[in-house]
Amino acid sequence: MIVCRTILEVSRLINKSNRLRQTLGLVPTMGSLHPGHLSLISKALQHNDIVWVTIFVNPTQFNNKEDFNSYPKNLEHDLHLIKKISNKINVFQPSETEIYNGNPFLKKYDFNGLDLELEGRFRVDHYNGVATIVSRLLSLFEPSNAYFGEKDYQQTQIINRLIDLEKIDVNMIICPTVREKNGLALSSRNKLLSIKNKSKSSIIYESLVFLQKSFNKNRNKLNIEKIKLKINSVNDFEIEYLEIVNNKSLQIELEFSDNESYRAFICVNVNGIRLIDNILLN
Ligand code: PAJ
Repeated sequence: MIVCRTILEVSRLINKSNRLRQTLGLVPTMGSLHPGHLSLISKALQHNDIVWVTIFVNPTQFNNKEDFNSYPKNLEHDLHLIKKISNKINVFQPSETEIYNGNPFLKKYDFNGLDLELEGRFRVDHYNGVATIVSRLLSLFEPSNAYFGEKDYQQTQIINRLIDLEKIDVNMIICPTVREKNGLALSSRNKLLSIKNKSKSSIIYESLVFLQKSFNKNRNKLNIEKIKLKINSVNDFEIEYLEIVNNKSLQIELEFSDNESYRAFICVNVNGIRLIDNILLN
C-alpha cells in the first residue's frame, strides 16, 4: 500500500502508470473509516485497475471550529482497515498546508439552488467547501470513476452539478447507504453518540421507512408533523428537518406528480450531534 502526503508524489505516481489502458477509481473521504466508506472502496476495487482513497478533513466545509476540531480522526486505524481490503490500494493523506497553502479558501459555485435546500439551510457555504475540495481532487487524479455514498444524497447532486459546471470527464457512482443493525446510517459522527442515544437513533430510519410505506399507500394523506412530534418526544432528540422533496431539484412541491420521483430527507440533532439520512420514496 502506498501512502502519499504530497501532491507532487501523487502526480509522479499517476503519470508513471499507463493511464491510457488503466482505469482509476477515486474514493474521497474525511477518514475515521467505517463499513460505509469501506463499501465504496470495495466497489472501486471491483471496477478499476487502480484505486486511490483520499483522507482529508476539509476545514472549508465545516461551519464551526468546534465541529471541525471534534471530528474524529484515526489515521493508523484507517490505514489498517484499507490494507485489510487490499494492499494494492493507494492513499492520499495530505496536510492542510499541502491543500490550502496556509490559506483555506472557498470557491463559490452556482448550484442552481441545490445548495440552499435541506443541509444548505443549516450549513451556510458547506457545499461550496465540499465542491472546492472535490474539484481539487478530481483535477489531481482525473479518475475514470469516483465513488460517493447515497447517505449524503444532497452532496451527490451537488457534485453532479460541479461535474457539469466544470465539464469534468468522470463517471460518478452512487453507492447504497450502509447501516447499523438497528437501521442507523453509519457515520463517523456516530462515535460521538452515547450508547443509549445510539440505540434510540433507530427511530430515524424507522420513520423514513414508515414515510416510504405511507407515501406508496396514499401520498396525499401524509402526516409529517406527527412523525416530527414523535421524534421530538425522545429525550435529547430534536428534529432539524423532515421533508419530502423532488429527487432531482431537491425542492418541496405543492402537489406530487406521478411522473416524478420523491425522496424524504431527515436531520435529527441528538445532543449536539447532527444525524442525517434519506430514503427514495418511489
Ligand atoms: P465522509 O463523510 O468521510 O464520507 C466519504 C464518503 O463516504 C461520502 O461519499 C459519503 O457519502 C460516504 N458514506 C458515508 N457514510 C456512508 C454510509 N453509511 N454508507 C455509504 N456511504 C457512506 O462526505 C465526505 O466525507 C466529504 O464531504 C468529502 C466528499 C470527502 C469531501 O470532503
